[in-house]
Amino acid sequence: MSKLTVRDLEVGGKRVLVRVDFNVPTEERDGKIAITDDTRMRESLPTIKYLREHGAKTILMAHFGRPKGQPVEKFSLRPVGLALHDLINHPVAFSHDCIGADAETIVADMKEGDVTLLENVRFHAGEEANDPMFAQALAKLSDGLYVNDAFGAAHRAHASTAGVTHFVRQAAMGFLMEKELKYLQEELTTPAKPFLVILGGGKVSDKIGVIKALMEKADTFLICGAMANTFLEAGGIHMGSSRVERDKFDLARELIALAEQKQVRFLLPIDLLGAEEIKPGTATRHSGRLSPGYSIPDGWQAVDIGPLTIALFRSEIARAKTILWNGPPGIFEIQEFSAGTEAIAEALAESNATTIIGGGDSVTAVKHAGLGDKMTFISTGGGASLELIEGKELPGVKALSVKS
Ligand code: 3PG
Repeated sequence: MSKLTVRDLEVGGKRVLVRVDFNVPTEERDGKIAITDDTRMRESLPTIKYLREHGAKTILMAHFGRPKGQPVEKFSLRPVGLALHDLINHPVAFSHDCIGADAETIVADMKEGDVTLLENVRFHAGEEANDPMFAQALAKLSDGLYVNDAFGAAHRAHASTAGVTHFVRQAAMGFLMEKELKYLQEELTTPAKPFLVILGGGKVSDKIGVIKALMEKADTFLICGAMANTFLEAGGIHMGSSRVERDKFDLARELIALAEQKQVRFLLPIDLLGAEEIKPGTATRHSGRLSPGYSIPDGWQAVDIGPLTIALFRSEIARAKTILWNGPPGIFEIQEFSAGTEAIAEALAESNATTIIGGGDSVTAVKHAGLGDKMTFISTGGGASLELIEGKELPGVKALSVKS
């Protein structure tokens, strides 16, 4: 069932309530909040630009951090509003509350092409509780038109992502939401083969749904990062002091058996880089080729894949036609442990495949390597991309109006 997009709305002269994901990383510099990566804001610009060019009065609402239902100064969206002003080169009015009389006055004064940013919707407990009264108060700011461009928050059934749609005439997706669904849903429904999935990062338990869902479509999995430790130890390799989920050994064996049954290649690291401490400048040690019975000494832990694995992964990447990458193979923030992550990013950049970076730390890694513009698509979602890839219906998408 296809959903309305912003192109389907008659927005000229209308107040349009737009949910964006401006939950951007920040740091304090000289006593001021500075945005360290404004990708999510930039990715919403096509929708904001379209609305402005079509004479809409654009009312942006967003969450920032997890203030737990009350105003917390450090989670104010005011600095984000200032940064948005620079990005769109147009004043951005700011309402210190996202509902109520002041917000209503500000939006009543808007002219065509104007933009207002509402304060953090999570300053009200009604947001995460998906309270209908709160959702209705948000909807009241609009002329019955709502656009959801907040892909990164679409897995949350909150008032501003889902509940609000019950109180507007039309609820449509923005261009960013549309693009995310195109790559993470449509493109992966019938991927060009061979379809290679590279999964790294922390825990097997976070990725079970994704592995099981993709087992139906992928030709090869490359498993790396701390999650690989659990598979390796379950296969008889002692992982020393590495992070291992000991209660997930049965699950790891079950997933390997499932791959065999479906004739999907499920490749684990064949060598590793170890370190005694997780800090820059620390000594590292190459494991040599791993085999059952191999033992990483206690006190040492895996911090990256080794050169043999890098070569193996590179050859798999070179053969693939579609590649999905989620999760780095090493602790790439520390230069000594970053070779594996950089090699994967480079190999993807060199490949002719459709390369999809499915959110989270792998996005940071690709950007860190300066290769962001060499990828076909980089998702702005973390949890939302994983849930979508797992095949779950996202509440923020489900709630949108169906095209008639
Ligand atoms: C994110 O940063 O992944 C999204 O903005 C969602 O934030 P949340 O996990 O706090 O809901």
